[in-house]
Amino acid sequence: MDKSTKIPLKIRPMIQKDLHQVSVVEKDSFPELFPPTAFSKELKRQNSIFLVAELDESKKEASCFLPGQWNQRKANDETNKVYQNKYTGWTLGQGFIVGILGLWNMANEGHIVTLAVRRDYRKLGVGGTILHHCLRICFEKSFINVTLEVRASNKSAQSLYLKHGFKTVGVRKNYYTDDGEDALIMTTPNTNSFDYATILDEHIRNTG
Ligand SMILES: CC(C)(COP(=O)(O)OP(=O)(O)OC[C@H]1O[C@@H](n2cnc3c(N)ncnc32)[C@H](O)[C@@H]1OP(=O)(O)O)[C@@H](O)C(=O)NCCC(=O)NCCS
Repeated sequence: MDKSTKIPLKIRPMIQKDLHQVSVVEKDSFPELFPPTAFSKELKRQNSIFLVAELDESKKEASCFLPGQWNQRKANDETNKVYQNKYTGWTLGQGFIVGILGLWNMANEGHIVTLAVRRDYRKLGVGGTILHHCLRICFEKSFINVTLEVRASNKSAQSLYLKHGFKTVGVRKNYYTDDGEDALIMTTPNTNSFDYATILDEHIRNTG
């Protein structure tokens, strides 16, 4: 597999069967989060849209990204050694989930409550793909806009959101209870505006 091989993904709604893997993905990204997200409750809420990004095993290159092979490939990378052979929550025969996203519909405004990609699978386009899919759903449902909070220090997530047309519109001081860090409030333009549709289409053209 050369470096340009794209990770083949399927984005689909989260289901009950996913919850074990999903909780491992969340823990990997937010080890300090307490209490963890009650995904089981979220799946029952009418106003929640929870998605998973799963390796698309109908594509031949998918097997290269399954945990065994992928870790092997990364074995020479010193920076990744610590994650080798770590518990993934995945069992053979299940789809392999690499990313999750959760959104609430609050009076026709979208609020992203969680977004996480497994550490070993970051910088491969997973976060962008699942976010894009979610924004498309919001656009189709004629949501007014989509908002989220992000740690002031989380530059990688902020960069992802900026690329999807989000703008910083405010700060919530001492928002995070574990360490008192501020949150930036980031919001899209009206998802129904023509400009916003253009931003999303542009993204799809660039990422394929
Ligand atoms: C933020 C996160 C979801 C991004 O997922 P990802 O799959 O790595 O993102 P992508 O590969 O799709 O990257 C898309 C864009 O995000 C930004 N980005 C992602 N990782 C980055 C990094 N380490 N440094 C800088 N920018 C980064 C870049 O703008 C990137 O575009 P580029 O590839 O053209 O440079 C992932 O890093 C993550 O799970 N972090 C921990 C949990 C978290 O912070 N969630 C967000 C809470 S608000």
